[in-house]
Amino acid sequence: MKDILPPESAGWERLRGIAAGFFSAFGYNLSITPIVEKTELFVRSVGEATDVVSKEMYTFTDRGGDSITLRPEGTASIMRAYMNSPEWKGRVFKTWYWGPMFRYERPQKGRYRQFFQFGLEAIGSDSPYVDAELISMLDLFHKKLGIDDIRVELNTLGCPDCRTAYRKELIGYFKKHTAEICEDCSKRLDINPLRLLDCKNRDCAPVIEKSPVILDLICDNCKSHFETVCGVLKSAGVEYNINSRLVRGLDYYNGTVFEFVTGRLGDRQNAVGGGGRYDSLAGQIDGQAVPAVGYAGGIERLLMLLDGSLNIDEKFSVYIAMLDETTLKKYMPLFIALKKGSIDHKPEYLFNDDSYRVTGAKKHLSKANRINARFAIIAGGIEAEKNEIIIKDLKEAREYKIVIETGDIKKAVLSVFNELDSIVSK
Ligand code: HAM
Repeated sequence: MKDILPPESAGWERLRGIAAGFFSAFGYNLSITPIVEKTELFVRSVGEATDVVSKEMYTFTDRGGDSITLRPEGTASIMRAYMNSPEWKGRVFKTWYWGPMFRYERPQKGRYRQFFQFGLEAIGSDSPYVDAELISMLDLFHKKLGIDDIRVELNTLGCPDCRTAYRKELIGYFKKHTAEICEDCSKRLDINPLRLLDCKNRDCAPVIEKSPVILDLICDNCKSHFETVCGVLKSAGVEYNINSRLVRGLDYYNGTVFEFVTGRLGDRQNAVGGGGRYDSLAGQIDGQAVPAVGYAGGIERLLMLLDGSLNIDEKFSVYIAMLDETTLKKYMPLFIALKKGSIDHKPEYLFNDDSYRVTGAKKHLSKANRINARFAIIAGGIEAEKNEIIIKDLKEAREYKIVIETGDIKKAVLSVFNELDSIVSK
């Protein structure tokens, strides 16, 4: 678990802002659900035999004697909330969320015990066009962030009937090769043979390579759903790779499953996020069948790929250097107005005031250099007397003097921004 402090947190805040705008444009609006749920919810939905439920949950007994769990993922909570909401029942519910999830995993690069996900869920529609739009939207979202080395891995897990037939085929096949598979795979074979397909043990690879492929076995309905998804992705220009070994680690999936993967997250994992259809999850929670599809991406992993590029750009940082208290007092309303103005101004200037310490120019400038400021606003008694300030471009070692109309704060703010803008655009 880690702390996220400034300046790193600026990238988080910006990412959240971009996500909110992007997803709501596609009709996915924000939901906020509790961080804890009854343990039973995850056991029933994510699946008792999954790693998440069997090894990784933070589960406690609360003061009332109920077993509660820190959510390891968001889908089950959203489905529960949807089913509890009379307002949404029976309607198509599209939502996005953002927040911490908890899994007791072995921490490593890109894997934490508290990590953040953004997620999207579309509940109440079985249309393949919803799957296709979700994948296309995520592809565009990554491109908007400037990440273009992520690819989509796509597969279908079929409906329960296709799955029963496929499980049988897989068990039959792997039983003939028990001597060639690892201990974990042997243990999983009867419980969840599909999980053998994403075993990371190299010894198992040759057997998995030749195992039966679900696409050869699925029914006409499932085939047609999958072909529609692929068709839309192709015509929307989304590059994807059909990966018949992609099964996902949670039990609730059927039909379309997909992951966004990259080679830039180290050798232990490659998924930036994953999702798929989960038409039977609602039934596992309260017996009602409601089709649904969704996705969740790891925020830490996404930010790792962005490598600080969403952080506030240092080239727009402005250090306020007042040489004496009388001057500070005179220009203080200007600084407050500048900070407020910077919220809507593009580029966004980041003001640093060193807690309004007054000292000599030399000390101020060495501090400004230490924090990598691009500009300093300098003023002392001489400037104050003439209603002036000095804007120093620390990168180019140049100074610009401007007059401040202290009686008209809007005009004063405008003249500072105009000067800064004209310098950065040179
Ligand atoms: P998931 O594949 O378990 O799916 O997690 C989605 C993403 O969360 C992963 O691809 C990864 O980026 C991130 N993630 C998972 N565990 C960790 C960790 N320990 N540390 C850092 N990042 C992690 C789900 O959670 C499903 N609820 C996705 C979904 C939504 N399916 C349908 N709707």
